[in-house]
Amino acid sequence: MGKLIVCDHPLIQHKLTFIRDMRTSTKEFRELVDEVATLMAYEITRNLPLQTITVQTPVAETETQVISGRMLGLVPILRAGLGMVDGVLKLIPGAKVGHVGLFRDPETLQPVEYYTKLPTDVQERELIVIDPMLATGGSAIAAIDVLKKRGCSQIKMMNLIAAPEGVKAVQEAHPDVDIYVAALDSHLNDHGYIIPGLGDAGDRLYGTK
Ligand code: PRP
Ligand code: URA
Repeated sequence: MGKLIVCDHPLIQHKLTFIRDMRTSTKEFRELVDEVATLMAYEITRNLPLQTITVQTPVAETETQVISGRMLGLVPILRAGLGMVDGVLKLIPGAKVGHVGLFRDPETLQPVEYYTKLPTDVQERELIVIDPMLATGGSAIAAIDVLKKRGCSQIKMMNLIAAPEGVKAVQEAHPDVDIYVAALDSHLNDHGYIIPGLGDAGDRLYGTK
């Protein structure tokens, strides 16, 4: 079973409060999401393997560590996932970015795929699927399905807010995927919105409502 990791750093929790607040402007919302994405990238990369190399400082030669192992890839789910990409890239500038376009049909709540563009070497990379919201889990499961069909096997999920229903669905469909969230909320309402949540992440990021 994949793990659920709640990133409970005080800075993340503080900023998430203002992300939730409906009085927060589009500009501030975007900035805060970007900042929290950077802080969550710090947590999600905590277990990256290191290797020892030798460097020459101005005064001595020393053995020191650099990240080793597989290259990383980010896969934002369009459109709201885009709001977290730059924040993650601040810490992992060498990561390649693939895109999976999905929207949730408002009637059926089923994900509809409309775009996929992935790095050619995607199956060799350790991937972080990025989306602010994990509600029913349908979009996340569909995005991970797309990646697994392309041969990817090292996948983590990064969400700002998750509902228990979505976490359970992803854990059942993809038990190999660990999920990193800033908050695990109470439940979904009848329209599939996370309660208390933050509303519609895409609309709040891009000012479309
Ligand atoms: C939102 C969100 C997730 C999805 C979560 O996207 O960004 O992708 O809903 O819901 P689920 O877990 O029930 O699938 P939305 O469909 O609103 O599209 P958008 O990002 O283009 O606004
Ligand atoms: N998508 C969102 O943007 N918000 C929710 O609460 C659920 C799905």
